[in-house]
Amino acid sequence: MNMASPLEARSLSLVREGNAVLDGVSFTVAKGEIFALLGGNGAGKSSTLLTFLGFLEPSGGEVLVNGRSVGSDVAAARNAIAYLPEAASLYAHMTAYENLDYFLDLAGKSATKDEIDVALDRVALPNEARSRRLQSYSKGMRQKSAIALALLRETPILLLDEPTSGLDPVAIDEFHDLVKTLAEGGQTVLMVTHDVYGACQVADRVGLLRHGKLVGSFAAENGQRIDTETVHAAFAGREAT
Ligand SMILES: Nc1ncnc2c1ncn2[C@@H]1O[C@H](COP(=O)(O)OP(=O)(O)OP(=O)(O)O)[C@@H](O)[C@H]1O
Ligand SMILES: [Mg+2]
Repeated sequence: MNMASPLEARSLSLVREGNAVLDGVSFTVAKGEIFALLGGNGAGKSSTLLTFLGFLEPSGGEVLVNGRSVGSDVAAARNAIAYLPEAASLYAHMTAYENLDYFLDLAGKSATKDEIDVALDRVALPNEARSRRLQSYSKGMRQKSAIALALLRETPILLLDEPTSGLDPVAIDEFHDLVKTLAEGGQTVLMVTHDVYGACQVADRVGLLRHGKLVGSFAAENGQRIDTETVHAAFAGREAT
């Protein structure tokens, strides 16, 4: 039995185009846990996710998926992970049904129309939109379609890059409920965001990333959510020392 953490960064350092982007970042995400990496623009959040997918190679340390170094088995890592990129990556000239069918096929999976409908129900994409091309969608509708694709992959691990960007407040609440349900079902979630409120609302733990360093960590305790004010103060550099 594999008892390793689904996700682990060990003293991860990363250089992109000669610039130090991550510097000695260490964290683990346990099975069924929601970990939010919070940080400002350019802090290194998206780069961290790309490293777990094997698209960027650490310059120091390593990242592990289910206890295996991504560098040693990138295919195993990618198979275990569904990744929601920062910019929704579906095709504008295809409908939601066509996109999901096509991208699932690329991922070596398939789903019936009914199964696709279930996923689109979970993200509350209106029925009438599903057979329309994505070029006629609002930003939030495109994001919902991309989220549905990640759900249909049914992977043990979800990496979400700014998943609620473009969603309205009701859709954000619904999305957070959905992520919590998935984690309760045993899926492991690493999401990155600059939204303090969203991170505190959904995550079991929040790590604060600043200029490529993990400078703070906050955990939900006693069934309470993480305190937004505390995290916001730390994010803004106003924490009591
Ligand atoms: N394609 C790239 N090539 C080289 N450097 C990059 C590239 N993309 C990002 N970087 C650099 O890596 C650093 C971290 O970027 P990253 O995209 O990981 O930050 P982020 O925390 O996701 O920011 P944001 O909130 O704006 O999405 C930045 O200094 C950025 O300039
Ligand atoms: Mg980013």
